[in-house]
This record gives sequence, C-alpha cells and structure tokens, in this order.
Amino acid sequence: MHSSISFIIPLFYLLTAFRGCYSAANHLTAAGKSTSSIVFQVNGNVYPKGYYYVIVNIGNPPKPYWLDLDTGSDLTWLQCDAPCTKCLPAPHKPYKPNKDFVTCMDPLCASVHWPETLDCSSPKDQCDYEVQYADHGSSLGLLVEDSFPLQYTNGTVVKPLLAFGCGYNQEVHASMDPPYTDGVLGLGLGKASILRQLNELGVTKNVVAHCLSAQGDGHLFFGDEFVPSSGVTWIPMSTTKIENHYYLGTAELYVGGETSGTKGLPILFDSGSTYTYFSEEAYKALITMLINDIKGKQIYNANEDKSLPVCWKGSKPFKSIQDVKNLFKPIMLSFAKSKNVGFQMDPEAYLIISKYGNACLGVLNGSEVGLESVNLIGDISFHDKIIIYDNEKQQIGWAPSNCSKLPNINRVQNHGGRCKLDGSNLDILQAYCDA
Ligand SMILES: *[C@@H]1O[C@H](CO)[C@@H](O)[C@H](O)[C@H]1NC(C)=O
Ligand SMILES: *[C@@H]1O[C@H](CO)[C@@H](O)[C@H](O)[C@H]1NC(C)=O
Ligand SMILES: *[C@@H]1O[C@H](CO)[C@@H](O)[C@H](O)[C@H]1NC(C)=O
Repeated sequence: MHSSISFIIPLFYLLTAFRGCYSAANHLTAAGKSTSSIVFQVNGNVYPKGYYYVIVNIGNPPKPYWLDLDTGSDLTWLQCDAPCTKCLPAPHKPYKPNKDFVTCMDPLCASVHWPETLDCSSPKDQCDYEVQYADHGSSLGLLVEDSFPLQYTNGTVVKPLLAFGCGYNQEVHASMDPPYTDGVLGLGLGKASILRQLNELGVTKNVVAHCLSAQGDGHLFFGDEFVPSSGVTWIPMSTTKIENHYYLGTAELYVGGETSGTKGLPILFDSGSTYTYFSEEAYKALITMLINDIKGKQIYNANEDKSLPVCWKGSKPFKSIQDVKNLFKPIMLSFAKSKNVGFQMDPEAYLIISKYGNACLGVLNGSEVGLESVNLIGDISFHDKIIIYDNEKQQIGWAPSNCSKLPNINRVQNHGGRCKLDGSNLDILQAYCDA
C-alpha cells in the first residue's frame, strides 16, 4: 500500500524544526481541573450535509481551513499544493507547505505506518503516508509540520508546531458525496493525533470532547475544563484495541426497554462517521423491533424516499423530530462490563427527517460497507450529548447537554483585548469578547 513516492516536492533537507516547547504548568481550578482548554465552534449537521467540521488556523501567517472532526483516525491532513495531483472541491485553496518536512526517522512517521513496518532507507527521506477510511475514500501525501495558533479559553494564544499530512492525492468512493472540507482533524488515540501531540508539548491534557446539536453545529473541546463535574456516565476504554480505535467493550441491544437478544456487540465511537452502523444481527433485530413497535400507529413505509434505506411517512409530512418522538422508542446499548451503564439513543439520535418530511433510520447495516462484527457509533447518535474521550484516565463518558450553548463562558469575558485574534478559530468566543 505504501508504495515509495517520488519526490514531487523540491527538496530542502532541513532538519525537522524543533517542535515548540510550552510548559502550560497546568493551572488548576479548585475542582482540580486544568484550565488549559481550547474550544472550537463546530459547524455542520448529519442531514443534509453529512459532516461536522471545525475551522482551524494553520501556518504563519495563519490561514483558516475547514477540517472534518474524526475521533476514528489519528492523522490530521489538509489538501496540499505540493502540487496537488488530485484535490477535491474544497472551501479554501490547498495549503502550501513550507520546508518543514517530517523525516522518516521521526517516531511519528513509524506511527502513521503502523501496523506495517516502515522502510526508511535514508534518514533524510521524507515521510509519506496513506490513510484509507471505511466510508470516505483516502488521502495520500507527505508529513509536514507547521504552526497551529490556538487560543486558550483565558485568551492566551499558543503557537505549537504540529505534524500533519500534506495530502496531494485524495480519492472518494464513487457513490459518496465527499464532505466539503479542506481535510480531516485526526482525534484518535495514536501518536500522530493532534491531541496526543498537544499533550506531549504540554499544551493541553489528552482529553477531547464534542457536543453536536441535533439542530446542527456544536462545540469541540481540547482539555478537561469543560467536563461536567456531575451527571457524566463513565466507562473504561477497553484495553483490547481494535485497530487503535476508541473501543468501549461489548454491549447488549435494547429497544424500548426490551432486550433484542443480541449481545456481545463490540462498540466503537467514531465522530468521523455520519451515521451509526450496526452489525448484521443487531441491525436485523433493531429493524424487526422498530417495525413491531410502530404497528397500529399512523406511520407507513416510505419506499419512494431514497435519502436512506429505511424511511417512514406519517399521514402528513413530519416537520421535525418532535413530530415522531412519541412514535419511536429509545434504543439502548447496555455495556457488559459495567452493570447499569447504558448509552441511550432517543429518536433524535437515530432518525433524521428527510427533505420529503419522512422519518429515516440513521442506523445502517454495517455488513453492507464491510464492517463485519463491529458496531460503529457515529455523529447522529452523539446528538445533544457531550461525549468525552479521556485518554488521561482511559475512560469515555457522556452526559446530556444543550450543544447549541457554550458552557461556562464567564471566564472568557474578562479578556476583551486578548480575544481580538485575526481569523480566530474561536468565532463564538470572539463574539463574546467583542460584546
Ligand atoms: C492562560 O492559561 C494558560 C494555560 O494554563 C497559561 O499558560 C496562561 O498563563 C494563562 N493566561 C492568563 C492570562 O492567565
Ligand atoms: C445487511 O447486509 C448484508 C450484506 O449486504 C445482507 O446480506 C443482509 O441481508 C442485510 N441485512 C438486512 C437486515 O438488511
Ligand atoms: C439550548 O440553548 C439555546 C441557546 O442558549 C436555547 O435557545 C435553546 O432553547 C436551548 N434548548 C433547550 C432544549 O434547552
């Protein structure tokens, strides 16, 4: 897969620039939480867009890029003018790399090639990469590094040098509408993840959380400042690694409080997937139980709506999820290793209202996309919850949350002057600071 790449970039064999050193000396609050957090406004929705992204500034002078947030992969990459042999339509011009290439001796290079071994014949060689995604294509390029100006919630700006992919060849599956973004923000647990790099530089804790609103948009948090102090359901990350993914162990599927009889379902959390995918057995059980439940209610199969494979219509078009909330019951994943721990999915976490006013099932058949036995929980099922991936304590948590609202905003307001960052990724804080 990693064929040797011809050097299409003029080579300046500069030694990898020294990655900046920040001692963020963890300013602790009374509750013992670090205050070194960074918050991003999230844009996008499950339907009709099919993706969520954050605006990240990169380079010097910084330029904004839209990156699809993905807790299912490690490597961050941008479409890159190296030159670009195959760039997809995107909101911004491809990133122009400076001379800071990551060499193939860098441990990060080995980590993006894992589990294959890296053939590094000359220590000065550039580091090529190729990432392939379960549902949306691939990116091929070189690892580079550049400055990422980031603003803490207290207004202070840091500019760590971070490594990421300069992608000059992107492919998408013919049947897919690619997300209209400039690249991917890799938030997985591997060494190349932005989160892990920020943590190693002492910029933030190795904790990331997202809050995606069913109405669209939301927030992304680095660090643990925004972790609610109560009401969070925690589950240990499973030590059995499934390809370096956020794996929660196995669960049993319930619909409307009744067991489906399917258990031992391996559960992964992946914000890079728009919809949720169940393994064949769980998918079949879910459809059977939902159909049984709606018998006798004013709701019918809508075969003409091709938005998603399974849709239902009412006696008149549905305007919002509110119109179907009392027709559909909650789905629950009950985790085997932690008694009484369940991940509940209310109708807004598994249905969308299509443009025809039908309710369509946002849980898909994983067998059809080659996922086999894993159950991939995607964006739709994270709606209206804060989902916390705590790599410090090796646990994943969730709590109901109004994701249209930025929690705990007070601390930011005192720093008016410092909030005025040009092209800040903190549009929302910006608004508060300007007020
Ligand atoms: C803001 O927080 C960072 C990280 O904790 C710290 O280094 C910086 O000194 C703080 N800035 C202010 C103005 O308090
Ligand atoms: C799920 O997909 C598999 C593979 O395409 C297919 O054999 C199976 O019938 C599907 N299950 C349902 C319930 O549609
Ligand atoms: C969520 O917060 C927004 C913004 O403050 C508010 O308009 C909305 O009513 C809230 N929604 C709920 C369900 O509380």
